[in-house]
Formats: sequence, structure tokens, C-alpha cells
Amino acid sequence: MKKDLLSINDMTPDQINALFVLTEKLKKNPFQPVLHHQTLAMIFEKPSLRTRATFEVGMTQLGGHALYLQPSDIKLGQRESVADVARNLERWVSIVMARTFLHSTITELAENCSVPVINALSDIEHPCQALADFFTVYEHRKNLKGIKMAFIGDGNNVCHSLMLLAAKTGASFVVACPEGYEPDEKIVNETKAIMKQNGGTLTVTCAVEEAADRADALYTDVWVSMGQESETSERKSIFQPYQINSALVKKAAPNVLVMHCLPAHRGEEITSEVMDGPHSVVFDQAENRLHIQKAIMISLLQKQNLVI
Ligand code: CP
Ligand code: NVA
Repeated sequence: MKKDLLSINDMTPDQINALFVLTEKLKKNPFQPVLHHQTLAMIFEKPSLRTRATFEVGMTQLGGHALYLQPSDIKLGQRESVADVARNLERWVSIVMARTFLHSTITELAENCSVPVINALSDIEHPCQALADFFTVYEHRKNLKGIKMAFIGDGNNVCHSLMLLAAKTGASFVVACPEGYEPDEKIVNETKAIMKQNGGTLTVTCAVEEAADRADALYTDVWVSMGQESETSERKSIFQPYQINSALVKKAAPNVLVMHCLPAHRGEEITSEVMDGPHSVVFDQAENRLHIQKAIMISLLQKQNLVI
């Protein structure tokens, strides 16, 4: 592992495999006090249920402590510069997790902090989510090579991390999104370059049914991400055809996994019938955030010789 986990690009396929093996072990035996006396600082510029709860519970289960710093506490970059916040935190804690608006805020934190920094969602990526999601698919399918994941909706932060992770694990990935809402071109090109070596293909299309055709996993996320609230009404009308519903599930493989990072807007990007239906693994994904993030923290702190 590198010092930080800011992007899926910070991990090699072998490191991802090793992370999944450690995650399986931790899921079987959750209480391992290997991070006794270590503290995680959690910086949030945006709201959260899963990320905060899973990092905090995870740190408790590993014998350490998590310190929640809410948006109004530190006013990152306003009350004090991002670099100075990093230079303070490194004196007190052994690891930092941050959820920010700008990806550059997380890279700035990491550059100015001697301790590991984890991206807990930025405008560009959500690597912890994607790792939990592919671990969920791995639990159900055992093999990720050659599977097809179809992402229906906005080419956003979650989509970017999933695309890159599909490439690293040898899976194929299709994004079905409205014109103008495609994933970032640089990340598309990076994904394609990794796929050239690892196998798998990336397709970006407007055709929802074609994307879902025989997919092993159907994935969606909110149409309006945090920070895009002013675009809500426009997005709600543009994204209308990009919904995971029963008709779309029928196009996919018979044992398709229906996935969502949550929070879900039932009746918008996913119907309740599908979210509560037999194909849905959305709460397994939420549970796996806990297990994978414990493995991430252990792996990063192992490099710093801080694991007992
Ligand atoms: N999926 C996810 O990151 O959820 P929260 O925004 O609740 O943390
Ligand atoms: N794309 C969503 C993910 C929430 C977990 C957002 O950024 O708000």
C-alpha cells in the first residue's frame, strides 16, 4: 500500500486481493485489538450515516478510538488552512479520514500530513465504497474476472471508483447515463488503459437496456450528489429513464445482484420493489463498509509499524 488511500489507483491488483483476504478474516472475527491506543481523526465537510458509523465502529472493534470532526468544528480551509489542519492532526492521531467537496482538499491534506489519509468521498472518488462493493460481489460470485457490472445513472464519484476497481479486478463495466453526465474523461482513459493489461472492457452509453443486458450486477446511485442540490429539479427530469426497476432487472442475468451505495431515493433511481426484492444486496454493501475499512486501516498502519 502507498501511504494514503485517496484513489483506487493507489492500490495494485495484488494489494486489492490481499485486502479482500484480510476483510474476510475480520468479518469472521471482528474484535481484534490490533489498533489499541491508536486514534483516527474523521473530517466531514458533508453529512454521512454509513461512513461515520462504520469508521467509528470499526475503530472501536480494533481497540482504537475515532474522533469525529463535524463541518462546523474546523471549517476546513476557512478558519485555518488545509495544510495547517494536517500539520496539527499528525501530532495527535495516527490516521486521518476525510470527506470533502473538492478532491484537491484531500490530496492537500495527504501531502501535508505524515500519517495516512483515507478518502471517505470527494467530488471525484469514493474508494472505500467501491472496495466494499466489489468485496460484496466477490462474496457472492467468488470470481470477479469476467463479470459485467452495469452502472445506471450519473457518471459520478462512486461510478469513477467502481470503474477503476473493475479494471483492477478484471471485470467489465458499462455506464448508462444521459448525455452530458458521462464519467470524467481522464478516468475513462485510465480505466481503459488498465483494462488493456488486465482484461475487461469499459462502455459508456445512453442505452439503459443494452447496458443491463445479462449484467451480473446492476448498480445505481442518487441522481443528485451532495453539493449539487441547486441542480435537483433539472436532474430529476433528465435522469427519469435511468431507474433500476423490475423491468430492467429482467434484462440482467437471472442471478443479478442489485446494488446501491445508499442513501437511496426510493422511486427515483431505484424502485422500492427492487431495493427490497430478492436480488438486492444493498445492506450487505453497507455492512461490508465496516469490514473493508477495518482492513484498510490495518493495512495502512502496518506500513507505519503501528499494528500490534
Ligand atoms: N454510502 C455512503 O458513503 O453513505 P454515507 O454518505 O451515509 O456515509
Ligand atoms: N454520489 C453520492 C454518493 C453518496 C454516498 C454523493 O456524492 O452524494
